[in-house]
Amino acid sequence: MALPMRSLFTDPDRYLQSFRLFLANSTEHQCMQEFMERQLPSVIGSIGNGKSAINILSVGGGAGEIDLLILSKIQARYPGVTINNHVIEPSADQIFKYKEHVAATSNLENVKFTWHEETAYEYESRMSAEKKTKKWDFIHMIQMLYYVKDVSATIRYFHSLLEEQAKLLIILVSDKKAETRRSFTQGHKY
Ligand SMILES: C[S@@+](CC[C@H](N)C(=O)[O-])C[C@H]1O[C@@H](n2cnc3c(N)ncnc32)[C@H](O)[C@@H]1O
Repeated sequence: MALPMRSLFTDPDRYLQSFRLFLANSTEHQCMQEFMERQLPSVIGSIGNGKSAINILSVGGGAGEIDLLILSKIQARYPGVTINNHVIEPSADQIFKYKEHVAATSNLENVKFTWHEETAYEYESRMSAEKKTKKWDFIHMIQMLYYVKDVSATIRYFHSLLEEQAKLLIILVSDKKAETRRSFTQGHKY
């Protein structure tokens, strides 16, 4: 008898195993680190100008390794400025790991973390039900757009939440082997 196919998206353990295997066998995190070192500083160059607090939204933040790297660059660019870092992440296990990573990281005194255990679409629906339109100085979606049903609608919604001078960063793997495509939008264009 044929066994039903287990979906990566409905089986969190299998998904995490696959993602760890992918990381171990690709240059993904290495490419990402290079990007964070070389290009992120110019992307975030003006998001916090004149602000006493910077509001960041991480969509699909996972276990937070990349988020913490991003935060360290923002702290370096805006020393002492308060950072409100919100994370949309549907996996309780990933949030648990994210909290562990935060606990093991020093120099995060000026960063306040808030986790929303829900999908991007659930966040949008909840905000709409609560009639809230919180705006953000920096929104990033790193390796997560594969998992949403409607990519355009998701980008449109989060793009609409950008403050003036804000940035939306999207990172996806390209179809070329061992290469990561990064694209980012500036201001209100994409
Ligand atoms: C490949 S991981 C990337 C994690 C992290 N951004 C990184 O680059 O290391 C994708 C993350 O998106 C989350 N995710 C899956 N579906 C989602 C959705 N519909 N909305 C928001 N996040 C989602 C997963 O739980 C997972 O943590």
